[in-house]
Amino acid sequence: MSDKKPMHPDTKLVLGGRRKEWLRGMVNVPVSRTSTILFDSVEEIHAAYPPEDGRLSYGRNGTWTQWSLAEALTDLEPGAAGTRLFPSGSAAVSIALTSVLGPGDELLMVDSAYGPTRHFCDRELKRLGIATRYYDPVATPEELEAMISDKTRAIFMESPGSLTFEVQDVPAICAMAKKRGLTTLLDNTWATSFFFPAIAKGVDLAIVACTKYISGHSDLMMGAVTAAPSHWERLSRTGRSFGQYVSPDDAYLAARGLRTLGVRLRQHELGAVKVAHWLKDQPQVERIIHPAFADCPGHEFWRRDFLGSSGLFGFALKGGGDAARDRLVESLELFGIGYSWGGFESLAVPAEPDPIRTASKRDYGGPLVRLHVGLEDPDDLIADLAQALAIHPAS
Ligand SMILES: Cc1ncc(COP(=O)(O)O)c(C=O)c1O
Repeated sequence: MSDKKPMHPDTKLVLGGRRKEWLRGMVNVPVSRTSTILFDSVEEIHAAYPPEDGRLSYGRNGTWTQWSLAEALTDLEPGAAGTRLFPSGSAAVSIALTSVLGPGDELLMVDSAYGPTRHFCDRELKRLGIATRYYDPVATPEELEAMISDKTRAIFMESPGSLTFEVQDVPAICAMAKKRGLTTLLDNTWATSFFFPAIAKGVDLAIVACTKYISGHSDLMMGAVTAAPSHWERLSRTGRSFGQYVSPDDAYLAARGLRTLGVRLRQHELGAVKVAHWLKDQPQVERIIHPAFADCPGHEFWRRDFLGSSGLFGFALKGGGDAARDRLVESLELFGIGYSWGGFESLAVPAEPDPIRTASKRDYGGPLVRLHVGLEDPDDLIADLAQALAIHPAS
């Protein structure tokens, strides 16, 4: 897309990655499947290397189908140098971390990170001689700075955190990290760069599981890392060295999802806020855990930095125990029981953060449920929740 005219994010969603030479007269960049690229001469094949987006070299290095999606994602992040695609959100997290860490280094990891992110640190990074220390997601930049040792190389944030939705002061943490020469990484899956353009807030490597809102239709797995100029070369090199690749079919579907990200996210937001406000007033509900609610840890950072809230939040039941919570989840008819989120459909799962927390175990007053509010009419979802809550012991 042209960098010349400033454009609003919704316009970028429509135009991003749709270069004329890739469209060839069509509205969408076509799916081009290939392994081998054929050249007319040895000179041409040599000129195709080193590989870079926009230059055909070999199937693994992509065609316009993948480049176009990557470019559209970069366009949503003012100040970014580029985006690399990965076969899942978890692959994006692990390669981004691997691109900045080496033996003897130490990583400061937020305690509210997505479970498999934590497992990657505790198993694979440890095996490579990289130590991980966990910090409380409500830690101030000063408290975080006090944890830095001469081995610390990077700070990983996830904001809001998985399951417990604490919002971090990302700009202040990034400013502190820059001063100390550390790399910052952010799992930005909840907000996406549409609601939180992370590179402009100071993040070096902004990660999003495209499996969720970017694709938006629960039909593919993908991740993306968008890099600040200082981190682009290294991210690209590491991604290529690890042979990371996404299929053109998935890239096409993700790009199709991306075009409607804005309207979908705003609808998810409206639905989730309406459902959450209704839940807050129910006698069986102890509390809501939603970044847009004033009592959510870090709510002030959400209000200051984010352009909206998405469809994922949690609530704590008033007592009842885990078995009653599980019965409630099972008695919902419009909410599927399943991991993942970000698709058009509503989901509910029991949330159990304690087993994957070491620095921030908290008492929420009752068992937790995580809801993903999809694109159904929120009044129907409320009616469904009402019938399920009616069987809860606190009724
Ligand atoms: C916050 C967050 N980050 C990363 C991931 C990983 O994405 P994927 O499932 O595509 O590997 C998930 C998946 O649920 C997630 O919730």
